[in-house]
Amino acid sequence: MIALAEGSGGIGERLYRGLTKAILEGRFAAGDRLPSTRGLAAELGISRNTVNAAYARLEAEGYALIEASSGARVAEGARLPAVDNSLAPLPASVGFPSRRFDLIDFKSGLPETSGFPAARWLSALSAVLQSAPPAVFGYGRPEGRPELREAISKYVGRYRGARCSPDQVLVTAGTTQAISVVALALLGPGRRSAVVEEPLTADIKTILAQAGAAIHPSPVDEQGLDPSMLPRRPRPALVYVTPSHQFPLGSAMPIQRRIALLEYARSTGAYVVEDDYDSEFRYEGPPLPSMQGLDPERVVYIGTFSKTLSPALRIGYIILPLALVGEARKRKWLSDIHNPVIDQLALARFMEEGQYASHISRMKKLYRHRRELLAASLEEESRAAGIGLEILGASAGIHLCARFPGKRLTRQDLLALEAAGAKAYPVAAHALSPGAWEDALILGFGSLGDDELRRGAGIVVQVMANAGKKKGRSSSREPARPA
Ligand SMILES: Cc1ncc(COP(=O)(O)O)c(C=O)c1O
Repeated sequence: MIALAEGSGGIGERLYRGLTKAILEGRFAAGDRLPSTRGLAAELGISRNTVNAAYARLEAEGYALIEASSGARVAEGARLPAVDNSLAPLPASVGFPSRRFDLIDFKSGLPETSGFPAARWLSALSAVLQSAPPAVFGYGRPEGRPELREAISKYVGRYRGARCSPDQVLVTAGTTQAISVVALALLGPGRRSAVVEEPLTADIKTILAQAGAAIHPSPVDEQGLDPSMLPRRPRPALVYVTPSHQFPLGSAMPIQRRIALLEYARSTGAYVVEDDYDSEFRYEGPPLPSMQGLDPERVVYIGTFSKTLSPALRIGYIILPLALVGEARKRKWLSDIHNPVIDQLALARFMEEGQYASHISRMKKLYRHRRELLAASLEEESRAAGIGLEILGASAGIHLCARFPGKRLTRQDLLALEAAGAKAYPVAAHALSPGAWEDALILGFGSLGDDELRRGAGIVVQVMANAGKKKGRSSSREPARPA
């Protein structure tokens, strides 16, 4: 009736698991007497001490009651029939739908991971570990290490035109966490509305909604968000923008619109949340300074190391108006206490030694080349195929948008693209209004080599050219949202 459980572990452990299984499954009901230790030891050919130890463990955990006179009995309430989960499907991994390694994957936002400066990072890490005082291995502060906050405040001041002290910097697990910290700090009773760009990264909309925001999309054009279209009622808690390189369309907001947006924010009491995710890589003209520098008390600036260094680090930061510092620190603490300390110290050292700035300038050369190659290949292929093409947002970042005027991308077109060996992402998947941007694809180029970019551009254009031939398609063809 009682068998040693299968699997790893010593005899005592396997006996214990065999006994608990029998009790949980109800093979011994509450009040039933368990076999005598002598009898069970003889039956299984094991020592009586082993059985005694297993019974003692059952008693300690509440499965059995042991009395000197009557031996061991099963306790009340120790039955839990097993549920058969063997057929439950494994949930698909979030964020990585069906990755196929034979595909040329134009997923946006991926930097060239082979460019990660592993040797320099290792020497920063090892220097940190060699000199770290013991306190570094205890709990830290939610806002992050002072060394890193100091390095970030100098960096954003020098390269992004931001104005802040290290006290205004809060280190986060990327932009993703930064947005949820900011939303939780800003949203409150009577202030639930978040104005967002349309189109907008689908995940960011979800993060804001998860924090309790009522989402109000506002359309972007070739100059980004248009402040004259913003709602007066309800007064929003925040306006989320990507003013230096709109995601996904890539437009940059001119100074007039930036000022109009700040005036709107001042008059409604809203905060501007500036997501500056990839503007370090600007290829045309000088870098656009951040909006934060114009009004540090109205703008919450969010930066990330995901594109410049590696998304695997999960390090980003918020530059907060002084009025929000306390609340944001509290939200970060309640989210995950703080970022891993050793990585923060390594990054601080990496930045202080000037390695970060030189890494960015190295990567910028590579991405400039890739962007030019992709744009030229798309243009050449579309000329040869005789179809229209408009490239948007190529002045910065590590993705561009290819618009095919007159086309309406469908799910079938995307499947045809995959069947032909490439994966691209419809802008429509990020649009909140149905029917918007159905002629445009997002093409990330950061992580693709020359050959992949050339071949991928050819595949994209071929599929779009064929899609164009299907004129008069039935309206039942499903548009390409979501991806
Ligand atoms: C608009 C935008 N901001 C920021 C990020 C970066 O997110 P994280 O810093 O959490 O990696 C992304 C990711 O691709 C993005 O699309």
